Amino acid sequence: MSERPRVLVARQVFPETVERLSQHFELSVNTHDEAWDKAELIRRLQGHQGAFTTGSERIDEEVLAACPELKVVANMAVGYNNFDMDAFDRHGVQATNAPGVLTDTTADFGFALLMATARRIAESEHFLRRGEWQRWRYDMFVGGEVHGSTLGILGMGRIGQGIARRGAFGFGMNVIYHNRSRLDAQTEAECRAQYVSKDELLRSADHLVLVLPYSPESHHAIGAAELAAMKPTATLVNIARGGIVDDAALAAALRAGRIAAAGLDVFEGEPRVHPDLLTVPNVVLTPHIASATVGTRRAMADLAADNLIAFLTQGQAVTPINRLVGRQSHGDE
Ligand code: GLV
Repeated sequence: MSERPRVLVARQVFPETVERLSQHFELSVNTHDEAWDKAELIRRLQGHQGAFTTGSERIDEEVLAACPELKVVANMAVGYNNFDMDAFDRHGVQATNAPGVLTDTTADFGFALLMATARRIAESEHFLRRGEWQRWRYDMFVGGEVHGSTLGILGMGRIGQGIARRGAFGFGMNVIYHNRSRLDAQTEAECRAQYVSKDELLRSADHLVLVLPYSPESHHAIGAAELAAMKPTATLVNIARGGIVDDAALAAALRAGRIAAAGLDVFEGEPRVHPDLLTVPNVVLTPHIASATVGTRRAMADLAADNLIAFLTQGQAVTPINRLVGRQSHGDE
């Protein structure tokens, strides 16, 4: 009889990650990447001490109450709005995420989306593919300038800072940001970024990039009023989370020309996309791939695996979200 902890790998992941986990745990793996609803997830989680999740699995009170043997859930994502952290704390379950390893890759993608949006790359490519390119025109797909313009960043954690550095040092942009708390002077200088109010950020940015975490406070942080405050020539990029932008209001603003264009990697209720966004031309849409390079996805999977191994074999996670100090994981009771 094996005494090894049981771990559920809730989504398909690199075979090498599964192999590594299998050296430490009795594994149940969603090999075919089936879509499990909440009831099925709970059924599969029964009797497991650990879970490997992606941002797609919602782990809340109902799940944790139904799975009393669960001690640790490792998210292969830096964002963890799929976790109800109050419920984790109530149940004494360790939650971990994957910070740091995706910072530069995600900042690269944010910048790529900014450029594709400002320079109308997707829109003009669709035009070409439709066979509509008959001749050169002086004003064909003219877009917004990137170099030397004002880059606004809402949310100035690691990824926001990476985008600021790319803008300031790569493209000579004037970088302004707003964040819940102001950065220290040295970090501001390293990013060549200036702290402004949210109102000023909206008013002054030529390109506004959203990199803040999703929470009830950031729900619809960009809605009709905020879009109306932006320059009509401005672009908006969301690589943070769906729900931070009111997608219906954004589609209406894009259609009415209240802002010039948008680039979205994340959507409210994804993988569904608001139907109005699919019909406006001046928006670049990508399917939540900002961290998607082979190296980065491997590093994220490795870190999630490290967290499970470290917590279940030594009692200490590598990148914990919550602190269980002074509490017993309920599996140890
Ligand atoms: C991706 O969206 C992540 O949070 O890692």
